[in-house]
Amino acid sequence: MMTVGVNGYGTIGKRVADAVSAQPDMRVVGVSKRSPNHEARAATEIGYDLYPADPDRTDEFEQRGIPVAGSFSELVAAGDVVVDATPSGVGETYRDLYKEHDTSVVYQGGEDPDVAPHSFNARTNYSDSLNSTATRVVSCNTTGLARAVTPLREQYGVQSLDATLIRRGGDPTQTDRGPINDILPDPIGVPSHHAPDLQAIMPDLDVTTKGVTVPATLMHLHSVTVSLEADPTAATVRELLNDENRIELISTASGCQSCAEIQEYVLDTGRRRGDVWENCVWADSIDVSDGRLSFFQAIHQQADVVPESVDAVRALCGAMDGEESRSTTDESLGVGM
Ligand SMILES: NC(=O)c1ccc[n+]([C@@H]2O[C@H](COP(=O)([O-])OP(=O)(O)OC[C@H]3O[C@@H](n4cnc5c(N)ncnc54)[C@H](OP(=O)(O)O)[C@@H]3O)[C@@H](O)[C@H]2O)c1
Repeated sequence: MMTVGVNGYGTIGKRVADAVSAQPDMRVVGVSKRSPNHEARAATEIGYDLYPADPDRTDEFEQRGIPVAGSFSELVAAGDVVVDATPSGVGETYRDLYKEHDTSVVYQGGEDPDVAPHSFNARTNYSDSLNSTATRVVSCNTTGLARAVTPLREQYGVQSLDATLIRRGGDPTQTDRGPINDILPDPIGVPSHHAPDLQAIMPDLDVTTKGVTVPATLMHLHSVTVSLEADPTAATVRELLNDENRIELISTASGCQSCAEIQEYVLDTGRRRGDVWENCVWADSIDVSDGRLSFFQAIHQQADVVPESVDAVRALCGAMDGEESRSTTDESLGVGM
């Protein structure tokens, strides 16, 4: 049984903790939180042992009736692996502490790539992180692109990838990011940081990405164009993508024609927090002309990196190969709509 601590029980951390708990070969030893707010209270009510990240604030947790299980160092020492889901740039400040306790660590995409020897996507380069001490799951947008481009590369060869990422302005609870009423080239410069992020796991990929931020909180929408080395039909590309468990083909007949409708569907069918772990590719958007493939896909920013983080834990522990890990994760979470 692999033991896992979660540092940063926010948007990603709380989902990772639940996903780890659902695995047959993993156990959550505790989670850490900086502020004694509603999320900290909910963590203890769910049954997670809580370890304050900031020792100077331990009393505040106790004063608010939120039970504290121990010090942050004790949490780090208790885990074979820590999944660090602290805000961007904070994870690297813990690097020495993780090393001191000989605890392996899965960082998230907000950290610089050099925080770990490898960046990670379970479908693209799982084996690079086998038995390593640290890895970094690439960002939600990069994860979505990696999942789609990997089978295309394997099957047809890819000359280049060009993607416009229409990005949500903030997560639903990020009131400090809105409301906004604008459409922002974000960044104005090309490429956005997603292209180098993708090259961190596919160094030889010719890729350009552009970012646009819109006033929405639900999901990201990608408009993707791929120049293939072959000229398959749209139908065979559909079949190829349909065989990928973390890609869901959304038919027009399903009635899910927008990100909001996808979210409503998964909520209606009982997905906790409305999480969409899969890339949602609209089947009828897939078009191929002279080897130039285009499609739209929706990416749930709060969820798609969660199964990847679980697989990253197994890679660091050397517990399974990538295929077995992905299928164990997917089965225990119910990935595949
Ligand atoms: N949200 C997304 O859409 C998304 C998608 C993919 C990847 N990511 C990446 O995932 C990581 C986490 O993002 P997030 O959106 O989950 O952030 P978040 O919702 O802000 O959660 C961060 C958590 O870390 C805690 N924290 C803050 N400072 C800390 C510190 N010094 N030590 C320990 N814990 C601390 C926060 O606690 P307090 O609230 O008490 O301060 C909070 O529980 C980032 O690298 C981000 O780039 C995010």
